[in-house]
Amino acid sequence: MKNRILELKQKKNALILAHYYTRPEVQEIADFVGDSLALSQKAADTQADIILFAGVHFMAETAKILNPRKKVLIPDMNASCSLADSCPADEFAEFLKQYPKHTVLSYINCSAKVKALSDIIVTSGNALRIVNSLPKDEPIVFAPDFNLGSYINRETGREMVLWEGACHVHDQISAKDVSQLRRFHLSAKVIAHPECPEEVLKEADFVGSTAAMLKFVANTDHQEFIVVTENGILHELKRQNPDKRFYTLSAQGMDCECANCKYMKYNTLENILAALETEQPELILDQKLMDAARQPIEKMLKMSK
Ligand code: 13P
Ligand code: SF4
Repeated sequence: MKNRILELKQKKNALILAHYYTRPEVQEIADFVGDSLALSQKAADTQADIILFAGVHFMAETAKILNPRKKVLIPDMNASCSLADSCPADEFAEFLKQYPKHTVLSYINCSAKVKALSDIIVTSGNALRIVNSLPKDEPIVFAPDFNLGSYINRETGREMVLWEGACHVHDQISAKDVSQLRRFHLSAKVIAHPECPEEVLKEADFVGSTAAMLKFVANTDHQEFIVVTENGILHELKRQNPDKRFYTLSAQGMDCECANCKYMKYNTLENILAALETEQPELILDQKLMDAARQPIEKMLKMSK
């Protein structure tokens, strides 16, 4: 199956992008594996005719918005994101009526319609930098992730107005889960994604995007890590650091989805091969919607250079 995918990819000049949370075998056949920021940068800068996005729906949407004339395939249209789904565009538009003078900052984990209502998009990899680059007294609304928004507020001293959305994976991780694991691994460093609740982040030695966590682990002499995010990242962590040791929440036998994003796992070798063969399912978006959503994404890409 892998050989057939690689063959078709070449024949059709297709680029396969995959997020760190996808299955190991999917990451292995991808042309590029990254965090949301790097994936959007890659999508903005490709000569491929087809982009196949092994990630979730909002990621494929971002790639399509940046490449309206290219074919964007998503192996399973049901690969949504609970965080993006926690901010319906019509409710968000109503909410924004209360803040007509605020700059609207949206985390990239949102729908194209929410992006179209936003001034600037951020990712977990550039949010602090972008917020810090705005005037101190600029009023800001931040959506959809409450945990990430609170983290940015704490780190920057801002008082952004927050939409109360959440990721079902990160939001259910508790500080107790992390401290229990720490008791077994006293010399391990805790690395966490900022979509986790505040009390979890208080337990962390390092907080950052998936790419930032990988960089932290690669650049330190520490040998053991408690990984507080989705388990898909372990594939790349182990690949880059074969001699270091990683402990995860699910390894404790916890009966929860706390380290598994089922939507990311919807991408399989089978449906990637089928998508390349049939060039379906193709993501189609309204032209006007794409034009409106492109501006805040391009602003982010410019501000991240
Ligand atoms: P990254 O910005 O680290 O890629 O995170 C994306 C995501 O979906 C986290 O749940
Ligand atoms: Fe969305 Fe959470 Fe899955 Fe990330 S881990 S894609 S935020 S549901």
